[in-house]
Amino acid sequence: MITVTTIKELHDALQNVSGTVGFVPTMGALHAGHISLVKQAKTATDLVVVSVFVNPTQFNDKQDFKTYPRTLEADSILLESAGADVIFAPTAEEIYPEQASPKISLQLDGLDTVMEGASRPGHFDGVVQVVNRLFDIVEPEVAFFGEKDYQQLAIIKKLAEWRNYDVQIEPCQIIRGEDGLALSSRNALLSSEARVVAPFIHKILEIASSKNNDPAEICSWAKTQIENHSDLFKVDYITIADQNNLTTETEITRNSRIFAAVYCDNIRLIDNLPMQCL
Ligand code: PAF
Repeated sequence: MITVTTIKELHDALQNVSGTVGFVPTMGALHAGHISLVKQAKTATDLVVVSVFVNPTQFNDKQDFKTYPRTLEADSILLESAGADVIFAPTAEEIYPEQASPKISLQLDGLDTVMEGASRPGHFDGVVQVVNRLFDIVEPEVAFFGEKDYQQLAIIKKLAEWRNYDVQIEPCQIIRGEDGLALSSRNALLSSEARVVAPFIHKILEIASSKNNDPAEICSWAKTQIENHSDLFKVDYITIADQNNLTTETEITRNSRIFAAVYCDNIRLIDNLPMQCL
């Protein structure tokens, strides 16, 4: 495995590759969820590139950007044992040079205005711009994205459509701790007290996902359960939406999915599950 920081070094490393390139974009602070993406990429493609870049343009909260964990040394050890071939860890100047191509304007059909998009203005614009730029640089055949960031995945699929499918998007299932908590780089920021209560979010979503009554009632029930469980919780949203177009559901269907964003002692955690639609 090699680590490169410039586009030139990356292109030099990739120039004699004959097979398919798999790509796992990350912001580092890697955990078993990322590693499962790398392993999936390793199985499906011939050479795996992992980018580690904390993208400033997708943070609407400057403090969140500042405190986002940066752990390149530990990440490299994990990536080596997962079988990654190249780590691309660029600087912001490398990704956003002054002469960078203009921002793309992508029609997202409302995918970016609900849930995370409503709570974090500008977030998905930043994600689209950086992922498009990374796709231009790495030119992968296949890119791997986790379903924990389900809304991001839906938006990246739109990006691939806009790029005339020059890259195939491979969704990868959520990896959870034994207690059900969805793995996330942000979990490292939880206080020990918050880490104890955090799995309750998944527990309630799982119960909610087996219900079949009015979606608004299910969401209101789930919010009450979570907020009554601990003073550390503050629900941002719980929504049942169509998993393709992300519009709010008025009845449970086979495409319904429940989505939640909950502050746990001020750390924002997100999760989602398909509704079981009995
Ligand atoms: O999911 C993430 O870690 C980031 O949003 C991504 C896709 C690496 C873009 O910065």
